[in-house]
Amino acid sequence: MTGTESTDGPQGLTGNLTHYGDPGFAAYLRRSFTKSMGYGEDALSRPTIGIATSESGFNNCHRQMPELVAAIERGVMLAGGLPVAFPTISLGEPFLHPTSMKFRNLMAMDVEEMVRAQPVDSVVLVGGCDKTVPAQLMGAFSVDKPAVQVVTGPMMTGSYHGERLGACTDCRRFWGRYRAGEITEPQITAVEGNLATTSGTCAVMGTASTMACIAEALGMSLPGTAAIPNVHADRLRAGEASGALATQLARVAVRPSEIVTKDSVVNALRVLLAIGGSTNAVIHLTAMARRLGLGFTAEELNGLSDTTPVLVDLKPSGEHYMEDFHRAGGVPAVFRELGDLMNLDCATVAGTTWRDVLADTDPWRDERVVRPVATPVSVVGGIVSLSGNLAPGGAILKRSAADESLFESEGRAVVFDSLQDLADRIDSPDLDVRADDVLVLRNAGPVAEAMPEAGYIPIPKVLAEQGVKDMVRISDARMSGTAYGTIVLHIAPEAAVGGPLALVRDGDRIRMSVRQRSLELLVSDEELDRRREEWQPPACGDERGYSRLYRDHVLQADEGCDFDFCLPTTTKG
Ligand code: FES
Ligand code: MG
Repeated sequence: MTGTESTDGPQGLTGNLTHYGDPGFAAYLRRSFTKSMGYGEDALSRPTIGIATSESGFNNCHRQMPELVAAIERGVMLAGGLPVAFPTISLGEPFLHPTSMKFRNLMAMDVEEMVRAQPVDSVVLVGGCDKTVPAQLMGAFSVDKPAVQVVTGPMMTGSYHGERLGACTDCRRFWGRYRAGEITEPQITAVEGNLATTSGTCAVMGTASTMACIAEALGMSLPGTAAIPNVHADRLRAGEASGALATQLARVAVRPSEIVTKDSVVNALRVLLAIGGSTNAVIHLTAMARRLGLGFTAEELNGLSDTTPVLVDLKPSGEHYMEDFHRAGGVPAVFRELGDLMNLDCATVAGTTWRDVLADTDPWRDERVVRPVATPVSVVGGIVSLSGNLAPGGAILKRSAADESLFESEGRAVVFDSLQDLADRIDSPDLDVRADDVLVLRNAGPVAEAMPEAGYIPIPKVLAEQGVKDMVRISDARMSGTAYGTIVLHIAPEAAVGGPLALVRDGDRIRMSVRQRSLELLVSDEELDRRREEWQPPACGDERGYSRLYRDHVLQADEGCDFDFCLPTTTKG
């Protein structure tokens, strides 16, 4: 262990006491109430290992969490700790209106405050679905008590007429075929029943899988565990081992701030790029790093992207699924193949460095899934940041899931002013749109709409029916990590706060150059100034409660969409 010996040692269930001048009385009361829960003296003498759970009837991805939590509890007890599970809110991606993104920061605050307030000597964070892992790590980083991340793990694949299916890249592919009239209603219904056939997170390299890999790359999960399928026995063994590890961490008090450094963040970015990971991860990793006073610039991201090949051949950038990635060697195989590009001296929560991890791991890997550097999926990384007069604070393109023939393009803007406008007009037979136009969606950013995954603008029906599969689409929204297409996202600042995206008009020319990392609105500065003077911010509703807190304090995408008041007061670079 690299940490400092805790001066006080674990406090157990009677630690973290509030008292008003009489600590003896407070301890006596606490003991009395813990006894009401049936704990004996031996249990009370043990370190308390909190287990932050996030199961919910509204979270399909966490359906088997009780079994996983039981394995974590077993691991804690075998190592001599007292496991105490407690709930936090859960964020089930398909069930949250208007978007799960609105609640990531709420969950982060819940986790942070409960881990701080309750008498836990260390904590196991159990999450899985897209926003839950970043929320848990943001909270844990701010409270900085010893912590281990455990993920629920991905689903297994299903099949339809002999074709393998996994949520949710295939969901989109089949829906696109249905919209284009290539498959029938009974067929799409049959597909619907076979896309998500087990518990667990989405089966491809979507946001949940990407965040699991990032948690592991940062050193916050046990190495080799990110890709283990939800229903695999290894998942339970990983839970048991993580419980034991958390008990160990409570004794030596290694804190997240001692594990996660700038070098770890760079490792996480390399892994994000090499796995062809989700664009959402750029926002989440930014927010997580900033909680520790760390960060990275768009230039750093682009520099890493140009020198990191995509090695992992998974949908949506490639062919395979998470269960294949697990069998192929998982995140350690990516570290090994990237070799010198990685900072192998970075620590892991297991008390080892990544160099130790690789020395102890079977070097075999399935090269069809984790490709050698010499024959990568792509010689450059999956994600790049673009900027220009249309995106002064930057924008993100997942080039590994985009059509290369559109990388250098210029087209007419077809503007949708809001989510409602998009819904009303995208399939209109009267929409004036051509395949070489640029579809623009605005007022869908963090302040306007809590940044939903609306950036995957559908191909207008008139074009889909002509067989158009992809076109340049730009917005201040996000898109699902399982989606693909030539889609520029996260434009900052967003239109609703007066970003230049607000000034685009139908028929303006927009130029995107991936080579030059640029996104330009070909309209003169004078004309833009004139339009800016006329611009009115969109009306916002009569809000109260969390919606008001969110709107008043959420930061832009390039700052991780965290709340301004959650940032630390000092940064480390
Ligand atoms: Fe939870 Fe996809 S719906 S990971
Ligand atoms: Mg998702």
